[in-house]
Amino acid sequence: MAAELWTGLFALAATAFVAPKLLARLRLAQAKHPSISGHARISRRLAPFVPFYEYSPENAFASDDAPPDIIERRRESFQRLGARLAADAPQSIKLSGCVESRLADLQFTNAYRVPFQFRSLVSHTLKVSAIATATEGVRIRNLDGNWSYDLGGSYGVNLLGYDFYKACIDRGVDRARSLGPVLGPYHPLVAENAEMLSRISGLDQVSFHMSGTEAVMQAVTLARYHTQRSHLVMFCGAYHGWWDGVQPGPGGRRKADDVYLLQEDSKHTLKVLETRDDIACVLVNPLQALHPNRSATNDAMLLASDRRANFDREAHGSWLRRLSGVCRQRGIVLIFDEVFVGFRLGTGGAQAFFEVKADMVTYGKTVGGGLPVGVLCGRDDLMKRFRDAAPTDIYFARGTFNAHPYVMATMNEFLQFATSPEFALQIGAAASTWDQRAKRLNSMYAANDIPLKVHNVSSVWILTYTAPGRYNWLYQYYLRANGLTLSWVGTGRFIFSHDYTDADFDEVATRCLQAAIEMREDGWWDRAPHLTDKAIKRRVFKELLQHRLNFPKFHAERAASDRSTRL
Ligand SMILES: Cc1ncc(COP(=O)(O)O)c(C=O)c1O
Repeated sequence: MAAELWTGLFALAATAFVAPKLLARLRLAQAKHPSISGHARISRRLAPFVPFYEYSPENAFASDDAPPDIIERRRESFQRLGARLAADAPQSIKLSGCVESRLADLQFTNAYRVPFQFRSLVSHTLKVSAIATATEGVRIRNLDGNWSYDLGGSYGVNLLGYDFYKACIDRGVDRARSLGPVLGPYHPLVAENAEMLSRISGLDQVSFHMSGTEAVMQAVTLARYHTQRSHLVMFCGAYHGWWDGVQPGPGGRRKADDVYLLQEDSKHTLKVLETRDDIACVLVNPLQALHPNRSATNDAMLLASDRRANFDREAHGSWLRRLSGVCRQRGIVLIFDEVFVGFRLGTGGAQAFFEVKADMVTYGKTVGGGLPVGVLCGRDDLMKRFRDAAPTDIYFARGTFNAHPYVMATMNEFLQFATSPEFALQIGAAASTWDQRAKRLNSMYAANDIPLKVHNVSSVWILTYTAPGRYNWLYQYYLRANGLTLSWVGTGRFIFSHDYTDADFDEVATRCLQAAIEMREDGWWDRAPHLTDKAIKRRVFKELLQHRLNFPKFHAERAASDRSTRL
């Protein structure tokens, strides 16, 4: 009897101990996005098993079972397209090749312009210039003296037009010249910049950094320091810079045990925030409003036509307000990472746009007035790097080049304009201007039966493909051949500067349509009736499996890669 009693008591105690842990784990599992990118650990484990393979020049144009005459047409047009690109930029392409051999960054971007199955073929035939020598208005000139319209937007830095930043830099250099590159003592403009940024963000204090990545690192580390909690919550698909602390997925080697990667717009996520005691902060990239829970779009991932975007300002704002309410209630620091969208959505940034108040906000890119910068704004209590009552418990977060005089001067030029009534007027009208322009291009596509659609948050656009196809990634090259410069993510993102006039935009829209008509005529969207996105993905999955199951080859590759890593 006594033994039974003890067994019962033990079972009860064990249940009482284990059940809450199980429940917490279950809640976490529910709050993850069901896609593979919502599961950082699993995708990290799987990534090494995805084998590299390529289509040969013989079968690369037939991966959708198109009839022989179409395949032949594609083959010819592919060569023609390559010749057109080469003719526009022979010197630029030659120099790009030299730079590539010394610049790992360019090797990476060149390798990830198209799905890897087509990599060698494309990089051999469709060469792209990575060199530019001048800008004027919304156009950019390559080394060969040829001009194109810029849709790359310098990764978001170019909000107001290159001419604006050139002027910021000219005037800024004049203002900083007498001090020169002095670090330690601050240029007097630091006071004005900090004042303006504090007003813009609605937060008490400011710190200056060299990049957006650094500003995010600072925000997360300070949130952990002050809350004394371990975990960061970030959302599936969101990009926050290249620090491995915000890249829990594939490629990372740092243990991802201080990050919860959760689903945006989910009651389960709110439940996790309401019930866990180890969450220091929640990091939000407001640009995700354009594609919640999906990664930033890149043509290298364009295997089929399943790229999606759906911007709903009201719905996203409502989610962010619910999120903010729970964070406030639970003492979790809400960080808005406005490195990309800050100022593009208005002077008050995403906070004002979505009517949400954050505890910390990061800025970067455009706020440097054309020079590199990262900014963190936060509440007094969160920005402090020491504790009055524990003098050795300090968080040492400083950087040699923070608040560099030249950057402070160009930033001041930017901020002066960004706080002017003229900017408020301009930015106030921008959203509807860019909505109308997106509508115009979409109706041009529709009127010509082109399977393309653009989606936008103001001047940041994503192109989606509306009919199943295996060669959508080629459209970026037709656009380039028609005099449009894109960033390395291709049609994954167009970033327009706000100095685009209606006439400039009309010219770009005409070229987008022309490029699409050429691509259609060359047979890239002719498809077999059975081709669906699902069928394409099934086929690619089968190919992956076949290559992976090629065991002897796999082990040889693995050994070679291990050897090169050791070297
Ligand atoms: C939202 C966001 N956060 C952080 C960063 C990183 O900024 P940087 O490239 O200046 O380090 C980026 C860059 O694209 C970004 O878009």
